[in-house]
Amino acid sequence: MNGVKLALHIESNAILLDVLRDQADSLGTKRGCDMGTCGCCSVLVDGTPKLSCLMLAQEADGCEITTIEGLADGHHLHPIQQTFTEYGGSQCGFCTPGFLVVISALLDENPIPSDDEIKTAIEGNLCRCTGYQQIVDSVRAASDILASGSGTPNATDAKSDPDPSYGGEA
Ligand code: FES
Ligand code: FES
Repeated sequence: MNGVKLALHIESNAILLDVLRDQADSLGTKRGCDMGTCGCCSVLVDGTPKLSCLMLAQEADGCEITTIEGLADGHHLHPIQQTFTEYGGSQCGFCTPGFLVVISALLDENPIPSDDEIKTAIEGNLCRCTGYQQIVDSVRAASDILASGSGTPNATDAKSDPDPSYGGEA
């Protein structure tokens, strides 16, 4: 999982979502509906988006699993993580891990998706907050970053204070 080999004892009927959250410490993988309709529990299994609430954990034996915790490259956010913050793709954040892993798979396969391709890729993910347009805008912006080859800034680089009135000394 996320580049680390895991060996876990599981029940034969264990659901992947339960194993990820309860045994593999992937609390970023969210439980929404628990019945395959919201997309919050999405993870990548061998690079393909899967609903972990509908998958037996044993089906993932020997597979590469990518959860939201595995998207960033060290201190460098995945472009879609960066643009979600810049374009308002995330508000309450509960749906966000599912969107991010699904969109990362889309951009891996198709770095310059059309709006229709973006909408098709995220049609299994529900968001109660954003109205979806900010999410589509975030994907377009991430696609631009990938096309330019500029990558994302190091997340630990110093940044200017976003509030100019906050000066520190009283
Ligand atoms: Fe899996 Fe909703 S929790 S689709
Ligand atoms: Fe709240 Fe999507 S940001 S449900």
